Amino acid sequence: MIDTSKVAELSKVAKQMVAPGKGILAADESMKTVGKRFASIELENTEDNRRAFREMLLTVPGESDYISGVILHDETIRQTTKSGKTFVEILQTAGILPGIKVDLGLIDAGSEKLTSGLEGLGARLQEYVEFGAKFCKWRSVITIGESMPSEENIRQNAKDLAAYAFVCQEHGLVPMVEPEILLDGTHTIEQAEAASTQILTALFEELRAAGVALEGMILKTSMVLPGKDFGVKASPEQVAETTLRVFKKCLPSELAGEAFLSGGQGDVEATQNLNAINQDKNLPWPLTFSYARALQDAATKTWKGMPENLQAAQKVFLHRAKMNSLASLGTYSSDMEQPVAYDQDVTVSQD
Ligand code: 13P
Repeated sequence: MIDTSKVAELSKVAKQMVAPGKGILAADESMKTVGKRFASIELENTEDNRRAFREMLLTVPGESDYISGVILHDETIRQTTKSGKTFVEILQTAGILPGIKVDLGLIDAGSEKLTSGLEGLGARLQEYVEFGAKFCKWRSVITIGESMPSEENIRQNAKDLAAYAFVCQEHGLVPMVEPEILLDGTHTIEQAEAASTQILTALFEELRAAGVALEGMILKTSMVLPGKDFGVKASPEQVAETTLRVFKKCLPSELAGEAFLSGGQGDVEATQNLNAINQDKNLPWPLTFSYARALQDAATKTWKGMPENLQAAQKVFLHRAKMNSLASLGTYSSDMEQPVAYDQDVTVSQD
């Protein structure tokens, strides 16, 4: 069990992460994934360009009005901005919590995936604590398809997420526990509902068995959606109804909160769905966003790696952050959108 004074501190940070009107920016893509994003704007994938990219996203004036925390990549937590400040200092000065992705990526498990990184995790966390990190992320990936997800894959991912979460809490770090249910596939929303129910039930069984303090962790899972290739999109009302039915069945009331990933939804779509979910005012947990693509894509397309586009890109970023902040409060409406001129085809998933 995690000791009580530690739990009180973890719970305070977790509450800050999901404070009303705030959400989390996931800026922790691997170098390979950043490379794919850069390819879409014809920018070379160098360390300096990645630094400039992260600087564009993390130095937006007014960002802390909508963003409570940023998930950094290992490379970024060690880097400094052009002015010589570390990214952690930049975030601390802005009143934004620095977080860190701590898993080491996906490994094959038959036709499914597991996540590596439990070995030596404690020592790595110790270093991140010294850097000033306050929370962590570990992503597992579950596929819906022919005989998938298997019971075995669901159980092993749940055990690994629980083991990671416990080590984080022992080190005084709030774990974001991310079972991502992939959008890829032709499945129906009913199939996604059944898989999500099974995955989240197993996850909370394993979290409890491992002694994880649920009030000191944040769940980061997918909205319940039909597969990308199912053919018809679900309406925001249907997404909200289905997602909330699963959550009411599976999420314990002590859980500090849930921050959704965007998972390949369009940026406005991810905002509309979050807003529809937050029409329910009688939920025991705050439900907010922890998006990468749905927060960054428009800004990335505006920026294109050019210093002269920095301000315009940051404005685009701030707009999306504000729209999602309103959606987390359930007060967004589509007529608040500004027309932005950019090419909307960047939907490379993370790894
Ligand atoms: P997307 O919002 O692009 O799905 O990424 C969020 C994330 O952190 C996935 O691990």
